[in-house]
Amino acid sequence: MENLLRSKPKLVVLTGAGISAESGLSTFRGTGGMWEGNKIEDVATPEAWRRNPIRVLEFYNQRRAQLPLVNANEAHILLKKLEAFYDVHIITQNVDDLHERSQSSNILHLHGELVKVRSELNDYIILDWGYKPLNWGDKGPDGAQLRPHVVWFGEAVPAMFKAESISSQADILVVIGTSLQVYPAANLIYTAPSHAEIWYIDPQPATITGLKKLHVLPQKATTGMKELYQILTSKCNPDER
Ligand code: OAD
Repeated sequence: MENLLRSKPKLVVLTGAGISAESGLSTFRGTGGMWEGNKIEDVATPEAWRRNPIRVLEFYNQRRAQLPLVNANEAHILLKKLEAFYDVHIITQNVDDLHERSQSSNILHLHGELVKVRSELNDYIILDWGYKPLNWGDKGPDGAQLRPHVVWFGEAVPAMFKAESISSQADILVVIGTSLQVYPAANLIYTAPSHAEIWYIDPQPATITGLKKLHVLPQKATTGMKELYQILTSKCNPDER
């Protein structure tokens, strides 16, 4: 009975495009990144949407069409498996659905989701869209044009408040595959309590200052997650909880 009542430690995970790289989805920055072939100001701003919505729709339609062609990788899957040991909460900057497909229980999308669309006039009208293309002329129940349910540069990040509240309760924070160049998401690493250990997995990690309990694993997501899974589970046995 006592074991049933003891709660699991809270493990908060911040993921970026790098966790999905080994599944075959491009990251944004660097050589071969998505922002190399597409200018942010042409496809990922409210101004781009006003100027040339068809170009914007095309960009996100291409991203959405890739999703059914790829699978979650070992890093996504190990995050799900950690739920046997920890109260795992994933905060992702990714708009893909690979955390959902590896069946993680608690997922917060900071930058939106490709499989959803919303009314361009009423933010609260959000529809499940799946993997099909979104076209100019596709309207919501309010009669307004539908747009991708993603956060564009220059737009607010409505999920940030909830994300800060989750990370402020972390016993452990794990950061995977992000350049930590985009704010406010990058600030989340500073909202974990000072007692929380922070693990950062990235083959080319960003320089992070001011965090005493930071451990960096300069590896790809799958390799780093295998190592971290061993470290994090060696201390606890799920059967003893
Ligand atoms: P970035 O493209 O900025 O960074 C990707 C990170 O993944 C880099 O630090 C790479 O070193 C790392 N990486 C590459 N391959 C990896 C692998 N196999 N395993 C682990 N890491 C790997 O992507 P994000 O940091 O996610 O926002 O970008 C943040 C936001 O900027 C995105 O959500 C998007 C983008 O513009 C919006 O569109 C609003």
